[in-house]
Amino acid sequence: MRLFQFDTNSSKSKKVSRINDIDLTKWKEYKEIITDSLWIFDRRDNSGAHLGWYWGNFIPQIPRQLMLRYTKRGDWVLDPFLGSGTTLIECRRLGRNGIGIELNPDVAQKAKLLIEKEENQDKVITEVIIGDSRTLDIKSILNNYQINRVQFIIMHPPYHDIIKFSNDKRDLSNAKNLEEFLRMFGEVVDNVTLYLEDGRYFALVIGDKYSKGEWIPLGFYCMQEVLKRGYKLKSIVVKNFEETRGKKNQRELWRYRALVGGFYVFKHEYIMLFQKRK
Ligand SMILES: C[S@@+](CC[C@H](N)C(=O)[O-])C[C@H]1O[C@@H](n2cnc3c(N)ncnc32)[C@H](O)[C@@H]1O
Repeated sequence: MRLFQFDTNSSKSKKVSRINDIDLTKWKEYKEIITDSLWIFDRRDNSGAHLGWYWGNFIPQIPRQLMLRYTKRGDWVLDPFLGSGTTLIECRRLGRNGIGIELNPDVAQKAKLLIEKEENQDKVITEVIIGDSRTLDIKSILNNYQINRVQFIIMHPPYHDIIKFSNDKRDLSNAKNLEEFLRMFGEVVDNVTLYLEDGRYFALVIGDKYSKGEWIPLGFYCMQEVLKRGYKLKSIVVKNFEETRGKKNQRELWRYRALVGGFYVFKHEYIMLFQKRK
């Protein structure tokens, strides 16, 4: 796929990308944009509506970085595991339209209120929909906005049962075992990526887990689910866990456990980038 083309309409010939707004003639000016595969953040962005109230959210810098690289102003972004709405708040800041799906109605409602508090200078649409991302009729949702494809998808599913998000059987965090979790995750992938524009990208944000003395490479298992559906792996980013207050208090205990148990304490998660083939 050709990612870049010369924009002949502009008086000064400008190298533009088809997937973002980066002007490559000025590439040195984009200091904010990370291009390395190791992301280290020492603190989360807590500005504006990003209150960080939801246990299991991701830091706003993740959707921000991804949207700067993989979307243009006015593009449509889909987040099938919306949680507290971090992606949609960033959509408003960056002038991208966003649709978020969240199973838990209380969480969705709270997210919606907060998203609406964020300024919306570009008058983009940021829609919160309550439902099961495995089965929701995405086509009809998109039809409401007279579109039939989105340009980017961000998936931040539960890391299986590490955090139990609800008592709902349809919640991926309630999958009875790893096999069921992967099957449910695959169902979401099938249901949503059907509506991703060809040649465009989607991101999976996921961590591993530890169970009964064994490291379970959840991230790689999920990656496999995506790869077997024919998507192209473009990058695996390793991102640090910024230390929450709770973790800081337990640091010594975990260090001791690690020394006794012969393992390393989790300090990272993955952001995997896939491209839909043309
Ligand atoms: C890891 S959290 C996402 C957090 C989000 N990125 C944020 O910053 O707040 C995963 C979310 O997926 C939701 N979820 C679980 N199963 C789902 C399903 N089948 N359909 C839609 N949402 C689901 C959970 O309720 C939870 O809020």
